[in-house]
Amino acid sequence: MPTRSTATTPDLDLGNPIRVATIRDLDPLDADRACFDLRRQNETADVRALTAALRTLLPDADALAGYSVEESVAAMRDLGLFLGSVKRHGPEPLDLVPEALPVLRELGRRTDMVPRDTVHHYCTWNPLGTRQRMYTGDVQEAYLQESVRMVFPHLRDGLELAAVLGDTDLADPKFALLTDELSRHTESTVTAIDMVVANVGPEFFARVLRPYFEEIDVGDRVLLGPAAAQVPLWLIDLAIWAADHSEPGYQEFLRESIPYSLRRWRDLYGRWIRTPSVVGRLVEAFGEDPGEAERRAPALRASTEALARLLRVLVVFRGRHLGIARKAYDADLRLYPVGSGGASVDLLRQIIDLTRAAAQLTQPGTGAAPHGQRRAAV
Ligand code: HEM
Repeated sequence: MPTRSTATTPDLDLGNPIRVATIRDLDPLDADRACFDLRRQNETADVRALTAALRTLLPDADALAGYSVEESVAAMRDLGLFLGSVKRHGPEPLDLVPEALPVLRELGRRTDMVPRDTVHHYCTWNPLGTRQRMYTGDVQEAYLQESVRMVFPHLRDGLELAAVLGDTDLADPKFALLTDELSRHTESTVTAIDMVVANVGPEFFARVLRPYFEEIDVGDRVLLGPAAAQVPLWLIDLAIWAADHSEPGYQEFLRESIPYSLRRWRDLYGRWIRTPSVVGRLVEAFGEDPGEAERRAPALRASTEALARLLRVLVVFRGRHLGIARKAYDADLRLYPVGSGGASVDLLRQIIDLTRAAAQLTQPGTGAAPHGQRRAAV
């Protein structure tokens, strides 16, 4: 049952699977047909038809006032599809349809999210089957949407596990069990990227899809398009190692990505940015004499090994992801120098290096864990 509310609902969990299913079913703007026609309008770069449709879809103040939170998310999803489409063909969408601005702001306020669609609107809250919203209708686009859909529930659960890990002593035997469960959730990213590598051509991404993810002006803000870089893997990093073993470039990327996430995740960011990471705590726990630390707390070894397995999963995802990103952003193919998340392939390289360095700290045998140094705090 959709939640009726005229005020924002700060603690609303928009990632709850039942709510996700509800949102997918909803069509508050009566936009099913228009969203389907949009594919053809994009193919023919028919900006006039796209803007006319966007104008027609805008709800009036009364309708907007009656929307549930779920309907507000679904409305943002559908308006967002038109925003990205208009921008893909050149114009700033809100220059052509300025009356959309208050609507976007109100939808953002009601859902406690940015006043634009995000990757979660475009993938997770998108209906399946004949009602699926797509810029192009190409099956490669569908694979990309599916990859994010696959990962979303796992990262949502994974982030809650990371929160529990944050409160669990590394010397507690439960620590390794929780970490292994987190690894299993994180493995969904590897499955997802394998599916994308097998089914999405770098050329399709670079030349056809990437232009739909351009940033747009929304009043006094510039907001990024609904790209996979908004998938909050970086928040798992923050809890596990990045709170105290990061670098300024990655810290900035995280800071700029966090507004596009759900309220709960923004809260976790606020908490984790101020707390030592799990790897930081591991280094502390081993101290100067790892042998003695292990004798005192034998469970430390299992905790360390479980953390190493988790970091390995992150490195594997990032290695495969970097492979396709490098191809799609090859100088001969790309249309844009940086990713739709506002960062470069060089940053992806830096993130892998940092993840590997964090993994090194979980190798007490190599002397890394006891002597690992804390880098600049975020
Ligand atoms: C054709 C496929 C893809 C390409 C070319 C690509 C490219 C990129 C690029 C260039 C970045 C740097 C940030 C930015 O976008 O500005 C990035 C970041 C990111 N992408 Fe992708 N990506 C692809 C698919 C995926 C998929 C399928 C996922 C997950 C389901 C994903 C998850 C991420 C994440 C989480 C980041 C943030 C950095 C990190 O955590 O390592 N990407 N991607």
